Amino acid sequence: MKRLKSLLFLSAALASAAPSPPSLIANLGARTTMSLSGTWRVILDPYEIGLSSRFYENRKPKDKQDLVEYDFDAAGTLKVPGDWNSQRESLLFYEGPLWYEKSFSYHKRERTRTFLYFGATNYQARVYFNGKRMGEHVGGFTPFNFEVTEDVRDGGNFVVVEVNNARRSDGVPALSTDWWNYGGLTRDVSLVEIPETFIQNYSVQLAKGSTNEIAGWVQLNGATHPQQVTLEIQEAKVEQRVTTDSNGYAEFRFPAKLSLWSPETPKLYQVVLSAAGDRLEDQIGFRTIETRGTKILLNGKPIFLRGISMHEEAAFRGGRAFSREDDAILLGWARELGCNFVRLAHYPYNEDMVRLADQMGILVWEEIPVYWDIDWKNPATLQLAEEQMRDLIARDRNRAAAIFWSIGNETPVNPARTEFLKQLASYARELDSTRLLTAALNRTEHEGANTRLLNDPVAEFLDVVGMNEYIGWYDGPIEATDTMQWKFAYEKPLIISEFGAGAPYGTHGTADTRFTEEYQVSLFHHQIAMLRKIPSLAGMSPWVLMDFRSPRRPLAGVQDFYNRKGLLSDRGQRKQAFYALQKFYNEMAAAPAE
Ligand code: GCU
Repeated sequence: MKRLKSLLFLSAALASAAPSPPSLIANLGARTTMSLSGTWRVILDPYEIGLSSRFYENRKPKDKQDLVEYDFDAAGTLKVPGDWNSQRESLLFYEGPLWYEKSFSYHKRERTRTFLYFGATNYQARVYFNGKRMGEHVGGFTPFNFEVTEDVRDGGNFVVVEVNNARRSDGVPALSTDWWNYGGLTRDVSLVEIPETFIQNYSVQLAKGSTNEIAGWVQLNGATHPQQVTLEIQEAKVEQRVTTDSNGYAEFRFPAKLSLWSPETPKLYQVVLSAAGDRLEDQIGFRTIETRGTKILLNGKPIFLRGISMHEEAAFRGGRAFSREDDAILLGWARELGCNFVRLAHYPYNEDMVRLADQMGILVWEEIPVYWDIDWKNPATLQLAEEQMRDLIARDRNRAAAIFWSIGNETPVNPARTEFLKQLASYARELDSTRLLTAALNRTEHEGANTRLLNDPVAEFLDVVGMNEYIGWYDGPIEATDTMQWKFAYEKPLIISEFGAGAPYGTHGTADTRFTEEYQVSLFHHQIAMLRKIPSLAGMSPWVLMDFRSPRRPLAGVQDFYNRKGLLSDRGQRKQAFYALQKFYNEMAAAPAE
């Protein structure tokens, strides 16, 4: 009884944490923006004196008596976008506050609202505009914006941002990750100029379960009375008009004849929305995604997801990836591998990555960093996770490529965690009932030496079950794959979301010697042979596309603070396992559809 009571209390506490709706501007690329990316002045603040010293005022001494112990103009610089760790050797391991400053001139326009938009900052940001506190944002991988219409001046302005990448036990993620804690203004910063009443967000996609009907909604910002909204898809001969309610919201549903988006034919339509003097264009693909038993159906047909997991790390340059060029290299390698699918682990990537996947016809698993163990009983932590899911969905909801929202990775099976993920799953479904929910689970029960049972209670709330397993690396010898049996407590599609082995490129030896390419490729051969025997297997995304930095991998001469499970090195060198997976995927792609 006591346990039930504490669970009931917990679920009530967690349920009360749903965050307030944001004013996040969707489809930034369609807007008039002034980039603030480039060189920013920076002051390192390891002892957190910046707030009390009022760095945000960016002031100069009034006279020779005036004591001011900071000066952005005399300080060093960093490039924005970009993490600080990979820009300065002395900042490689730095975790703490760092203050950025950017001065710029601006010309105010009539009847225009101005917003300051951040693609992402890791992990906590306090934003000041012309010395005034605009607010703060917590979470390292989702966009946010502040309205500065009343604060921006004709002529000179300045922005000061304190970014603190210190890890927190109540954070999302929490203290322990197997990736580098890249801090800073890690994505573009822009000023956005937008009409007084504007189209803040919208959903335009096929009605659930239909291939010839579009359903969706539009949300205006700044509307004081009902407005007419026009939706045009010229190529599909669609022109629809709806009128918003007094909150600027309108729904629509109408027939449409469309060529469906798919990896083979990634058809995107130009969609134009206009209302109250605002007009924006988007490139939108139309497809259906659903499950039937243990199959995943794209446009009503079973599809096997030939995938790869990755991190948002820039090949060659290192550090956080942030540009279309960075994204094109990573997705180009996935395409070369024969992938029709990528798992963007373990956090939301930059928006261009998903838009590029739309254009290339690569299906995407998007994930928020509810990673390993976090503070499951803390309502504020649940609210953080919900905010990250909310803003990811708000940003990418019109991307055909995005078929999965993942609510976690390798989380421990206990009542508090299961309640947390149950809340998070229902919150995600409230926001978007059209996509499939998943998570990467890894707690299996051992039924004898060579039988694993996955009966994690979270799978009940998922549409597709992701499972990470490391037979042959963390879990027994490679040969264990030959006799391993897998059982699942749920009749749902299964994606093996991780398996792999580490090997620095160019390290060779016998196939039973760890950290050799031969060991890695042998593991891939054995894993593939084991996995293809699983009837409910609907896809896989082995770990991992490219070697990536991790503070958990210190083995000198082998890891050097890199996780070496990449199929490519961070210099783009292809290991033997790259070709083994490529061969398997090319054979699968050539095999007749079921
Ligand atoms: C874990 C985890 C990854 C990690 C990988 C590894 O399953 O999901 O983030 O990098 O295994 O240990 O290499």
